[in-house]
Amino acid sequence: MKEKLEQIQQQFDDKIKEADSINSIDALRVAYLGKKGELTSVLRGMGALSAEERPVIGQLANVVRNHIEEQIASKTSEIKAIETQKKLASQAIDVTMPSGFQRQGTLHPINVVADEMKDLFIGMGYTVADGPEVEFDYYNFEALNIPDSHPARDTQDTFYIIDNMLLRSQTSSVQVRVMENTKPPIKIICPGKVYRADNVDATHSPIFHQIEGLVVDKGVTMGDLKGTLEVFAKHMFGENTKIRLRPHHFPFTEPSAEVDVSCWTCGGKGCKMCKGEGWIEVLGCGMVHPDVLRRCNIDPEVYSGFAFGIGVERTAMARFGITDMRHLFEGDMRFLSQF
Ligand code: DAH
Repeated sequence: MKEKLEQIQQQFDDKIKEADSINSIDALRVAYLGKKGELTSVLRGMGALSAEERPVIGQLANVVRNHIEEQIASKTSEIKAIETQKKLASQAIDVTMPSGFQRQGTLHPINVVADEMKDLFIGMGYTVADGPEVEFDYYNFEALNIPDSHPARDTQDTFYIIDNMLLRSQTSSVQVRVMENTKPPIKIICPGKVYRADNVDATHSPIFHQIEGLVVDKGVTMGDLKGTLEVFAKHMFGENTKIRLRPHHFPFTEPSAEVDVSCWTCGGKGCKMCKGEGWIEVLGCGMVHPDVLRRCNIDPEVYSGFAFGIGVERTAMARFGITDMRHLFEGDMRFLSQF
């Protein structure tokens, strides 16, 4: 039996030398240590041995088994290491090799200024509200004091989907949606796309962007509006910027104003940028009309509010000295890569 054990070890040693994969090692494990393996069947025969022989053979069998187990373990890690090496070699990347040229994208100028405005207003405690671009006539016009026959509809003609549904012509539609669902105090901005039946030229586009602002609370005044717009103007156009409120008419605010900022190119003296005016118009604003509040179940005797609508393209053009709005929509990389 002793010879048999030595023979098993010898045989195993020969075979493990040739093993070159995890699978072939597994096969050896089964063949030698498995239930029906070589070593196991020898151990089964030990019952037939004499009482003196048994411990001797038993000890030798243990030595052989330990030897086989150790060999299997060390060969397994050897093969794993080789396989890892092979894998690494096959996946090697030469980091010094020139790569395929990838053009790095940049934010679109519209997004640059829109993000800046959002950051500014969020910093002043406003939250960002959202509303649909496909809007009901009610929110875009009716609820804002612009009934069916109102002349203000002419300047904001848009694409109608069905009779009472259209592509919104102003983000002011979101004012009513927010006021219907929120009790004052309200302090929101709403950035978004708007649509109008305008022909494309250097200062018009049938799709453009606005940022709407709305504040409703007890005791909100025109002074608060002016202060807010001053902060906005200085932030966007520079510390020395002045603003000027010109009386205007919007059906949903009373009083209403258009706001000019002093020209950032000439500082107000008059130049090509401001067409000699010294001022550039950037937004419309006013105190929310009592009828609009009432329609949203907000009591105008208790609450007041201000609202404003900023043109994003106009602001971007002003900020970057862009003279033709079409550049903002044509997607020409020579233009876009400058931002
Ligand atoms: N919605 C107006 C427009 O598109 C801009 C505007 C004016 C918005 C006055 C306002 C506002 O919120 O109070 O011309």
